[in-house]
Amino acid sequence: SASSETGLGNKLCRTTDRFTQAAKRVGKITSLPTPMFSRNDVSIWGILKKCIGMELSKIAMPVIFNEPLSFLQRLTEYMEHTYLIHKANATTDSVERMKCVAAFAVSAVASQWERTGKPFNPLLGETYELIREDLGFRWVSEQVSHHPPVSAFHAEGLNQDFVFHGSIYPKLKFWGKSIEAEPKGLITLELPRYNEAYTWTNPTCCVHNIIVGQLWIEQYGSMEVINHKTGERCSMMFKPCGLFGKELHKVEGYIQDKSKKKLCAIYGKWTESLYAVDPVTFDSHKKTDKKSSDERKDNKRGSVDEEPEEMPPPDAETVPVVPGSELIWKITPRPGNSAQFYAFSTFAMHLNEQDKSTEEVAPATDSRFRPDIRAMENGDIDFASSEKKRLEEKQRMARKNRSKSPAEWKTRWFEQGQNPHNKAQDWIYLKGYWERNYTDLPDIY
Ligand SMILES: *[C@@H]1O[C@H](CO)[C@@H](O)[C@H](O)[C@H]1NC(C)=O
Ligand SMILES: *[C@@H]1O[C@H](CO)[C@@H](O)[C@H](O)[C@H]1NC(C)=O
Ligand SMILES: *[C@@H]1O[C@H](CO)[C@@H](O)[C@H](O)[C@H]1NC(C)=O
Repeated sequence: SASSETGLGNKLCRTTDRFTQAAKRVGKITSLPTPMFSRNDVSIWGILKKCIGMELSKIAMPVIFNEPLSFLQRLTEYMEHTYLIHKANATTDSVERMKCVAAFAVSAVASQWERTGKPFNPLLGETYELIREDLGFRWVSEQVSHHPPVSAFHAEGLNQDFVFHGSIYPKLKFWGKSIEAEPKGLITLELPRYNEAYTWTNPTCCVHNIIVGQLWIEQYGSMEVINHKTGERCSMMFKPCGLFGKELHKVEGYIQDKSKKKLCAIYGKWTESLYAVDPVTFDSHKKTDKKSSDERKDNKRGSVDEEPEEMPPPDAETVPVVPGSELIWKITPRPGNSAQFYAFSTFAMHLNEQDKSTEEVAPATDSRFRPDIRAMENGDIDFASSEKKRLEEKQRMARKNRSKSPAEWKTRWFEQGQNPHNKAQDWIYLKGYWERNYTDLPDIY
């Protein structure tokens, strides 16, 4: 039912023809127009000391702590490893499909690695689209609520092999030394060929040492991917770093059938790679591994500074592979100059790209047209900062105007509704975006 607009066929071909030129250029971009500024000279403590425990969306952060992307663009990075969904479509065994979907769900948060810049908050009514013919998908998203901030998205395979949609309510909390982002919301993947739907939520992300020291990121919490048709589940834990960084970036869990019988173990690191292995092999391997690590811990006792937020040592990276494992996902290496460009992946470097063909077809609400983000990308921090203030003020004025009139805000491409698979509150795509009738769009920039 979610794919009736995916009667894509000829219409889609016509629409995407205009993008072919742009798509051909994809792959050539390896940097942004200017490198990022050093954040070392800015005293963030003065701004933040009054705000401990507050929700970050209520604190005006200087633009220098941003990265030149809107949160709508950042969300699109879920799609970097779309090949895993194509692989799930091509696999007739449901456990094999679950491996692909679980790998996709983990890969979707891998872009967070070393990304310590904060994306710009989307403005109410802001949209972002992306067509990647080379990866076989198109994506549309809209900021559907401002307080609380909610971003809704809908993506589909260009050959109609999947529909991927969701709504995300990021909750950012400031804890003195760190900022915690709790990605509330729900994500759904549908595979029409098997009449299957999978849902899951993302783990919590934490940026450490925002006041002093080296910034570093960890993700923790559980992620449960549910196949609503077969009742199979993949429950995974993203482990907190722990003492000595032993658990840093680790992800571990099992695929279980509907009677909770373990069918497969999944393990790895969200920054690196993910493996699948027989659960009995995995459990016995874990027991011996635990014994030897307890011995290591005894040796180290008392000789290590136990500052809780200390950055884990680099040798905490790399996944020890259990014999007999199958590699199900590996991260795409970042480009060599990534550190100068906000730790962007090659995929992220393209997100704010503006070429003639996009300019002609995208609606005026598209994130690419946001002047503050563009100014930051071009290295003009002062202009980025004043434009950001202007846009936020304009948004406030528009809301004030609406409060004085009977006109209410109406979302354009999504409406609030129930997720058909688990009945949770969600935002449902209204279809029609790709017909590109962009009359009566709000003037938000
Ligand atoms: C989905 O899988 C089927 C069966 O393997 C295949 O025929 C079809 O081409 C696949 N679709 C895509 C887009 O890969
Ligand atoms: C708010 O209303 C005033 C008066 O009608 C108008 O001049 C202004 O452009 C409106 N501002 C926004 C952002 O809608
Ligand atoms: C475009 O949308 C507007 C309403 O938003 C509608 O009045 C108009 O008829 C549509 N135009 C076409 C060509 O479908």
